[in-house]
Amino acid sequence: MARCDALARHSELAGKLTRVYLSQEQRAVNDLVLGWMRAAGMQARLDAAGNVVGRYEGARPGLPCLMLGSHLDTVRDAGRYDGMLGVVCALECVQALHDAGRRLPFAVEVVGFADEEGVRFGATLLGSRAIAGTFDLQLLEARDRDGVSLREAMKTFGLDPDAIGSAARRREDLHAYAELHIEQGPVLEAEDLAVGVVTAINGFSRLAVTLRGTAGHAGTVPMGLRRDALAAAAECVLAIERVGRSDPALVATVGRFDASPGAINVIAGEVRLTVDCRSSSDAARERAVAAILDAAASVAKSRRMELQIERLQDSPVTGCAPWLIEQFERAVTAEGLPLRRLPSGAGHDGMAMRAIADIAMLFLRCKGGVSHNPAESIAEADAGAGARVLQRFIESFQPAARKP
Ligand code: GLV
Ligand code: MN
Ligand code: MN
Repeated sequence: MARCDALARHSELAGKLTRVYLSQEQRAVNDLVLGWMRAAGMQARLDAAGNVVGRYEGARPGLPCLMLGSHLDTVRDAGRYDGMLGVVCALECVQALHDAGRRLPFAVEVVGFADEEGVRFGATLLGSRAIAGTFDLQLLEARDRDGVSLREAMKTFGLDPDAIGSAARRREDLHAYAELHIEQGPVLEAEDLAVGVVTAINGFSRLAVTLRGTAGHAGTVPMGLRRDALAAAAECVLAIERVGRSDPALVATVGRFDASPGAINVIAGEVRLTVDCRSSSDAARERAVAAILDAAASVAKSRRMELQIERLQDSPVTGCAPWLIEQFERAVTAEGLPLRRLPSGAGHDGMAMRAIADIAMLFLRCKGGVSHNPAESIAEADAGAGARVLQRFIESFQPAARKP
């Protein structure tokens, strides 16, 4: 808990935890985590994408690893456990091995992923995609809200954008990828359970929508002659909400809405908004995205707007591997806790890691199911229970007989 507090001190905004990809604050937490890794007997380094990677060798050097981890970046005005708790608990488990002078028949690696939230450049999972070898190089031209490209930001941070491929790991380097994370939802708390084992991570689609009308004088342009981009965008937002409500397997969110020029006496000429749509069914998500595109096109037509839609990123439903789910469940039972399986509504680095390894996740109860909010909180006893389950999982981990 103290380590989560220490990480939370590094924020772009005082009192509102915000730490985005390739920021100075990220550099500070990277240094902190690299130090903790080394103190836990690991070789630790920053990779070409800015991920912190620590390695605790097994019985002999160079063995394939069980990779553990989570992310060190945050949303804006975030909680202090989303991501960070998974890194810190994995580190504690390695520290325990190191303190006991124990080596396992496989290496253990801990990764602090540099970008899971995708707050700065709109596209998410940049750190884990680099490790999985699926980083889309076109994203180097994506720009943040200040117009800085990902390529420029990497250079400023001291990373070589042309070397990003060297962060990629090979399938044969990994036995599996496992992540501990707060649930970020209310299910475990409602059922009075400290932990749950994840079955699958819901898929997502992210869009950027721009509506262009005509900026004008709020006093002189009659209502019938306006091309008000904000009023049009408001109709789009409500249409997107209706799509999200049309199927219990769907959620759809407009989380960002920027109207310009943005003055009380000026009709908005342009609005940019983001769409995040998720589902446990890839077919339902595809239908929803199609419905959102149709709705935006029809609003644009009826209100004479120029419409531009960028499909930023899509990810299908990612299943957790049954053989790993079973091993997590054995660890939960050995810890004397009841079993509960549940899907993940939130996205996680495992979605990217699935390209090179089977994945598993352990969820921990968080207070009120609240996350992406500074009120995010977890009972110390639950964090302890989760870390002990993770430790049992690691120490009794059996690699799959045949790699998938
Ligand atoms: C990450 O937390 C996400 O699900 O957006
Ligand atoms: Mn998050
Ligand atoms: Mn997270």
